[in-house]
Amino acid sequence: MSKYQIAVVVGSLRKDSFNRKLANAIVKLAPPEFSFQQVQIGDLPLYNQDDDANQAESVKRLKNEIKSAQGILFVTPEYNRSIPGTLKNAIDNASRPYGQNAWAGKPAGVIGVSIGVIGTAMAQQHLRNVLAFLDMPTLGQPEIFIQAKDGLFDESGNIGADSKQFLQNWMDKYVAWVKKHAA
Ligand SMILES: Cc1cc2nc3c(=O)[nH]c(=O)nc-3n(C[C@H](O)[C@H](O)[C@H](O)COP(=O)(O)O)c2cc1C
Repeated sequence: MSKYQIAVVVGSLRKDSFNRKLANAIVKLAPPEFSFQQVQIGDLPLYNQDDDANQAESVKRLKNEIKSAQGILFVTPEYNRSIPGTLKNAIDNASRPYGQNAWAGKPAGVIGVSIGVIGTAMAQQHLRNVLAFLDMPTLGQPEIFIQAKDGLFDESGNIGADSKQFLQNWMDKYVAWVKKHAA
């Protein structure tokens, strides 16, 4: 088992999601002591505080995956200048009941790709606000705002040549961040 296990939260449920492709590609730039597992968020119930005392199995599963990870990687699209409701729902579900926030203390990275020119900048800023409240140390620099364009991925689904060095640099910083902050 790798020394550092990272839970990857993709904010899109779309089958051909650019963000899922980005998540699949960027993890190949990490060293062998890191392993990455995408967590499922599409089957979670809509958060309802009445359920706090009896959380759904899917919520318990997500919380266990978060708690057993040494770090979290958020890969999210931008929806209407914020994060998708699906992602916020997952975050809310795993943050409760009060005092049992599964995200607390987990080092995080935030990246995203969109078809718009600002490449998820607004969504990421909103997400950072949420992660700060959840007490997650979140890598501040470098930032990754990617616009989906031809050549972003090669035929094998790897990061294309033009973006590879940029994303490798981000991954190197993320790896160091997780090592520094992992419990
Ligand atoms: C409800 C909705 C809202 C969107 N809002 C934005 C937005 O605010 N900024 C942006 O750059 N793209 C926006 N888009 C376009 C997304 O960038 C695009 O759909 C992208 O492919 C979503 O990511 P995915 O490929 O990982 O699903 C929006 C798309 C949807 C469906």
